Amino acid sequence: MTIGILKETQKGETRVVISPNIAKQLIEKKFKVLVEEDAGEKSSFKNSDYSAAGAEIEERGVVFKEADVLLKINPFSEDDLKLVNEGQVLISQLFHKSNPKLIKALSDAKVSAFSLDAMPRISRAQDMDVLSSQSNLAGYKSVIRGAYEMKKILPLMMTAAGTITPARVLVYGVGVAGLQAIATAKRLGAIVEATDIRPETKEQTESLGAKFIEVESEGEESGGVYAKVASEEYARRQKEAVNESLLKADLVITTAMIPGRKSPVLITAEQVEKMKNGSVIIDLAAAQGGNCELSKMHKEVVVNGVKIIGTTIAPESVSTNASELFAKNMLNFLMHLTDGEEFKWDLEEEITHETLIVHKGEIRHN
Ligand code: NAI
Repeated sequence: MTIGILKETQKGETRVVISPNIAKQLIEKKFKVLVEEDAGEKSSFKNSDYSAAGAEIEERGVVFKEADVLLKINPFSEDDLKLVNEGQVLISQLFHKSNPKLIKALSDAKVSAFSLDAMPRISRAQDMDVLSSQSNLAGYKSVIRGAYEMKKILPLMMTAAGTITPARVLVYGVGVAGLQAIATAKRLGAIVEATDIRPETKEQTESLGAKFIEVESEGEESGGVYAKVASEEYARRQKEAVNESLLKADLVITTAMIPGRKSPVLITAEQVEKMKNGSVIIDLAAAQGGNCELSKMHKEVVVNGVKIIGTTIAPESVSTNASELFAKNMLNFLMHLTDGEEFKWDLEEEITHETLIVHKGEIRHN
């Protein structure tokens, strides 16, 4: 089976779907690997690294023409779809719930398409979960970026010239990114507080040595790994419970998301007005509308001395590691879906069922 590794074309994207190390592992498993020229350039992987791993470097058109399976990180674009051939298997993130036009186009092209962001959150799928591997790095990097932007240091420092008190970090949303942000800020010596709508995150927060800000819950467990939309009453109570910490915070990291929906606004413009001069908000939910009312995607906004940075959970600034982890998730997924030579098309099996959005032109999930 021939695997085609495509260069990402989305603006700002610096990652590549397969690293040279994983290309080598695929080749050892008897796959033929074609890599689009310069696909790994922005992740510091050279064409020669892929060649040394045993892959062939080809022009874009050749990869589309000769591969049985085409791999990408971001959804296939209209331009990509002009080049795909009937019967090919496409694997990428598709965000199918918010991309009906793309799903229809994939169906019209009579291809099969798997979406990595539709991976079920079950333990045996953990090593294939790209949202998790990427969010983890984004959580780490959000603290490093925040530390760089702040005009204060994070740890307590006692010097002959006086004592510097530790910075205060507040994290909204204790999922994968939030937990890594808490761990990183703690390691750097900050006083860390966090909040989440899922009550089970209290213990996880405390196990990292941070304080959990409890909001009286709606009387029900979240019942799953994803959060539900909060009621207006919960949002009001949350604002009240977190407000004191927000107004004292030097760095705020927001990661609260609900799959397939706009992110909840957790910090209003009115609250920003009252925050400390010089404080920084890193909003990782900006691509889904943002957790701060004032954040703008890929932009820095300064309001009343508060710098608000709108970004995403795609850890583009650490593209070497991010690509390596993405590639490993992809390898595990390919191993799960194939018997090494052919796709198994085991449509009853949960991981295949959930991720296979279009099968031989037929739309399976809307
Ligand atoms: P996410 O990116 O969908 O959301 C981030 C966090 O924001 C979540 O913890 C969510 O509860 C929180 N949130 C949403 N609305 C909120 C609100 N109004 N106020 C405060 N917080 C709010 O979630 P993520 O990080 O992708 O994963 C969530 C959980 O899924 C993880 O903590 C983990 O337990 C589980 N997971 C399981 C996997 C597996 O078993 N294969 C793989 C990855 C994650």
